[in-house]
Amino acid sequence: MTVPILDLSRSFGDIKPEVFAAMERIFAAQSFILGQEVKTFEGHCDSYLGVPEGSCVGCASGTDALLLALMSVDIKPGDEVITTPFTFFATSGTIARLGAVPVFADVDPSTYNIDIAQAMSKITSRTKVFLPVHIFGQMAPIVGVISELHERGIKVIEDTAQAFGSTRFADGGILRAGTVGDVGCYSFFPTKNLGGCGDGGMVVTCDKDRAERLRKLRVHGSGTTYYHDEVGINSRLDAIQAAILDIKLKHLEEWNEERRKIADYYRLLFKTHDVQEFITAPVELEGNYHIYHQYVVRVREKRDELMEYLNTEGFAVRVYYPLPLHLQPCFAYLGYKAGDFPVSEKLSHEVLALPVFPGLTQSEQEALVEKIAKFFGK
Ligand SMILES: Cc1ncc(COP(=O)(O)O)c(C=O)c1O
Repeated sequence: MTVPILDLSRSFGDIKPEVFAAMERIFAAQSFILGQEVKTFEGHCDSYLGVPEGSCVGCASGTDALLLALMSVDIKPGDEVITTPFTFFATSGTIARLGAVPVFADVDPSTYNIDIAQAMSKITSRTKVFLPVHIFGQMAPIVGVISELHERGIKVIEDTAQAFGSTRFADGGILRAGTVGDVGCYSFFPTKNLGGCGDGGMVVTCDKDRAERLRKLRVHGSGTTYYHDEVGINSRLDAIQAAILDIKLKHLEEWNEERRKIADYYRLLFKTHDVQEFITAPVELEGNYHIYHQYVVRVREKRDELMEYLNTEGFAVRVYYPLPLHLQPCFAYLGYKAGDFPVSEKLSHEVLALPVFPGLTQSEQEALVEKIAKFFGK
C-alpha cells in the first residue's frame, strides 16, 4: 500500500460537475480577473466568517494577504512586528520585505503556537504589530491579549493561512480565526484546507475604511482606474480561483469535520499500538476547534530515520518546518543564534506531518501506524 501526504483528487469527484459548469460560465463571459465571481465568493466568505458585508477582500496569495495587511496598518521601515519563528517563511518574509523588523517569540511545545507571555514581553516602543500564526489549523491563544495590545497602540494581524474555519469558543460565543484581530490573512494555495487550482488569498477586516483601502491597495492603490491615491501592489484574485473556492466553501465544514475524525483515529491508533512513548499527538486546547490543516506529531527520537523508513515503505510523511525562521540565512542580519528559541529548535528536529485530507481511509491510517509501531519494535 502507498499513502500520499495529500490526494486532492479524492474530494474533487464530489464537486467536478459544478467546477466544470463554472468553467463554462467563466469562459463564456471571458471575464477573468476580479469581477462578479470574486464578488460572489467574497460575499459568501463574509457570511461564513460572520463579518459585515464587504469585509473580505480577495487577493493573489496568502503571502500578498500578509503584505497587504501590513501595508494597511502603515508599517514602515524599522517598525517591529512580534511573530513566531515556527511557521512558513512568508509570515516573516513579508515583514522584512517592507523594511520592518521581525521580532520572534518562541512557541508552545504542545500546540506549536506562539507563547503569548513571551510575545508580550517583547513589546517595545517600536512595536507596531503582533502577528501570530494559527499554526497547522489551531487558533493561537490571542483572544485574551487583544484589548491590552490595542490599548498599547499595537495592531493584531492574524496569519490564518492554515486555519480557514478554525474557531474558539470564548465569552459565550464562537470566534472565527482571522476575525478576532484587526486583519486576518488567508491562503488558498491548492494544498490548503480551502484551496484553489492556483495561487489565491484573502484579507479580512471588520473596519470598513481599512477594507476599502485594501481594495485599492490590491490594484496599485487605485480607486478609480488610472488614478492612484497611494502606491499599492498588483494582487488580484482571479475568477477561476474564486469560482472553485466558492464551490469548495460549501463543503468546508464537512471536510474540516472529516479532518478532525482522522485526527481522533490517529490518537486511538497510537494508543492501541502502544507507541505513545515515542509519538506525541498534537494537543487541542479546550474550547478550540482545530481543523487539522496538518496533523503534526512529535517523534521523541530517530525522527529522520522514521521519516526515511516510512517514505521508503510508501507512506508519505513530511517535516514542517526543518529550520526555524530565526536561523534562516536570510535573517542572519537580525542577530539571532542557535539556542535563542529552544522550543522551536527542538520541534524542528521532532515534528512529523502525517497524511490528513478528506478521503483518507481508516485502513490507510491503520497501515501507517502499524509501520510506525514496527519501526519502534512494538
Ligand atoms: C502560515 C503561512 N503563512 C503564509 C503562507 C503563504 O501563503 P501563499 O503560499 O498562498 O502565499 C502560507 C502558505 O504556505 C502559510 O502556511
